[in-house]
Amino acid sequence: MAGVIKVAVAGATGRVGRELVRAVAREADLELVAATGRRAVGEDVGTYLGLGALGVKIAGSLQEALGFAPPDVVVDFTRAEVAREGIVAALERRIHVVVGTTGFSAADLQRFEELAYRYGVGAVIIANFAIGAMLLARFAEQARQFFPRVEVVETHHDAKLDAPSGTAKRIAQRLEAAGGGPVPVHSLRLPGAVAHHEVVFGGPGQLLTLRHDSLSRESFVPGVLMAVRKVQALRGAVYDLDELVRA
Ligand SMILES: NC(=O)c1ccc[n+]([C@@H]2O[C@H](COP(=O)([O-])OP(=O)(O)OC[C@H]3O[C@@H](n4cnc5c(N)ncnc54)[C@H](OP(=O)(O)O)[C@@H]3O)[C@@H](O)[C@H]2O)c1
Repeated sequence: MAGVIKVAVAGATGRVGRELVRAVAREADLELVAATGRRAVGEDVGTYLGLGALGVKIAGSLQEALGFAPPDVVVDFTRAEVAREGIVAALERRIHVVVGTTGFSAADLQRFEELAYRYGVGAVIIANFAIGAMLLARFAEQARQFFPRVEVVETHHDAKLDAPSGTAKRIAQRLEAAGGGPVPVHSLRLPGAVAHHEVVFGGPGQLLTLRHDSLSRESFVPGVLMAVRKVQALRGAVYDLDELVRA
């Protein structure tokens, strides 16, 4: 089929990655060509995830996977220490990247951005692909002009490695850029939680709370698929879903 986008999923055995493998396998314009994980290396990713054979073996690293099945787009949901060199390897091969992994330093992000410009490819690096979280950040920016005092509270499952969440850091950064001083961020790690963000504004005699809840990892899938379909038209880095929606 003309126009099919070849996709590699790094972190295919993970909580988000497995939802993405399922989604890519189901979409007619997307073709899964590579998958990585730490578990089940060498096994068919579809068989491992209970989806039926997909003809794609799990590789132990993205660098290895890119060697034998070059994709058009790499999607990475791993962990920062693993993703860092894989993303660099993809960009140096002029492969577009869609990155959901969080926990990168400002220097990492700058490096990805520079490489994307240098090699003329798109790098979508978004801390939260849920459409509702995009709207939360947008509404919070609108509220900030009326409420100078604001704090962010994020709650995640207790296996999350980084704190504060990339989403909370990005919301705080955007609110700080909108003016009015630093925005404190508070992190809770509790079993039973998935990904929850509250932006709480306080003023004389009133509180305004904006809240978004991701109740399952399916919430991230439509945003990631949109990014996969749009990233090949981009040059350089995009950090917010708003920007991608408009692209
Ligand atoms: N942007 C967003 O919308 C969004 C949403 C949710 C999560 N996230 C972020 O996405 C990332 C993944 O989250 P998750 O909950 O899916 O994590 P997870 O369940 O721990 O999955 C991580 C994936 O990376 C793989 N991995 C870990 N270490 C590896 C290594 N040394 N070599 C090769 N593969 C390795 C894991 O393989 P094994 O399973 O085989 O160990 C797994 O496939 C985190 O940074 C999280 O903060 C972003």
